[in-house]
This record gives sequence, structure tokens and C-alpha cells, in this order.
Amino acid sequence: MSQTDSRQLRKVLGCYATGVTVITTRTRTNSRIGVTVNSFASVSLDPPLILFSLARTANVLASFQEAGDIAVNILSRGQQTLSNMFAKPSSAVWTEADHFCADNGCALFKSSLAHLECRKRSEIDGGDHLIFLCEVIRFHLQETTDPLLFYRGAYGTHVRDPWSKMPQPDSSLAELAVGGWG
Ligand SMILES: Cc1cc2nc3c(=O)[nH]c(=O)nc-3n(C[C@H](O)[C@H](O)[C@H](O)COP(=O)(O)O)c2cc1C
Repeated sequence: MSQTDSRQLRKVLGCYATGVTVITTRTRTNSRIGVTVNSFASVSLDPPLILFSLARTANVLASFQEAGDIAVNILSRGQQTLSNMFAKPSSAVWTEADHFCADNGCALFKSSLAHLECRKRSEIDGGDHLIFLCEVIRFHLQETTDPLLFYRGAYGTHVRDPWSKMPQPDSSLAELAVGGWG
């Protein structure tokens, strides 16, 4: 593909609005690692699987290849600064990121919309990216916050269609509840 086509393709793919996550792990020497990722996707409910991809050129790649445990922070609208901080992982200032340690040892950021603690299952070739397939072990949901979204290279949030029916708190939770989760 020519450089112009690649640029156009990037533009087209950027039309697909996504959420924003910061995915964390720990190195063997116990250093915290985190990176901003919007390639996160749900894959399966039974078993509970998610995926994300990392550029092969990313400095954090080796840490995720060595890792067994990872945590996904699904960001809320107030966490744009956090997203920017972990888009430059080498200069991230952890003391400025309000976080705590998950049961699996990875960092979870307070005020996130949701957290997923995961165990890595496999790595799949994804061209200039490497795809990580992970099993969800535990999750936590904070229902009252709006999401941080990414669309055409800019941040935004979700505006509910005024005509769409509000989900009932109980039924939305029931839809999410899967045997063996949490
Ligand atoms: C909103 C947003 C989403 C991103 N999503 C991804 C992604 O899915 N995969 C990826 O490899 N990098 C993604 N990046 C870039 C990384 O956060 C990071 O900047 C890059 O991997 C450099 O990391 P390094 O210092 O480890 O090389 C994203 C950046 C932003 C701002």
C-alpha cells in the first residue's frame, strides 16, 4: 500500500469511535507499566475474553510479552490527562496518577469507568502490531460516570439519544453478569 493510501486508511479507521483504556502490568522487578490503548475489544463471554494490540515498536511491548497478569482501566470522561500521560509511557509520572494495586498486582486508576483484571492467554501476529488475547478474572464497574471516547484523533464523551430508553440499573447489570465473573 502506498504512503498516501496508508494515510487515507488511517483516516477511515479513525472514523470508528472507540473508548479509551490504560492497560497496566508489572515487570519481573516489580516496576509499574501502563500504556494508553484504544484497540481494546471484547471477544467472548464464555470464556470471558478480551483483546488489545500493541505496536511492535512500542517500548512497553517487551513488558507485556513477559507479563502473565494485566489490568484494563476503561477511562471516564475526566481522565483525558491520564490518557495523554500514558500515551508517552516513558515519561509517565505515577505519583500524579491516582491509582491503587489490584489483587493481581497491576495498577488500577481511581475514577475509571470500569476495571478488568486479566490473565494473558496468547499472543497473535497482527502485522506491525501484536495482539494480546486475555481472560477476564475479575471486574469492577462504576455505573455513574460517562466514558472517555476517541474519534477522528480527538477526545469526546457520549451523549445519550434523548429518545432512547434509559436502561434500568438492574437489567443492565443482569445483562453484564456472567456465571463465574467477579
Ligand atoms: C487514544 C490513544 C489510543 C492509543 N491506542 C493504542 C493502541 O491501541 N495500541 C498501541 O500500540 N498504541 C496506542 N496508542 C499509542 C500508545 O499509547 C503509546 O503512545 C505508544 O505505544 C508509545 O509507547 P512507548 O513509549 O512504549 O513506545 C494510543 C494512543 C492514544 C492517545
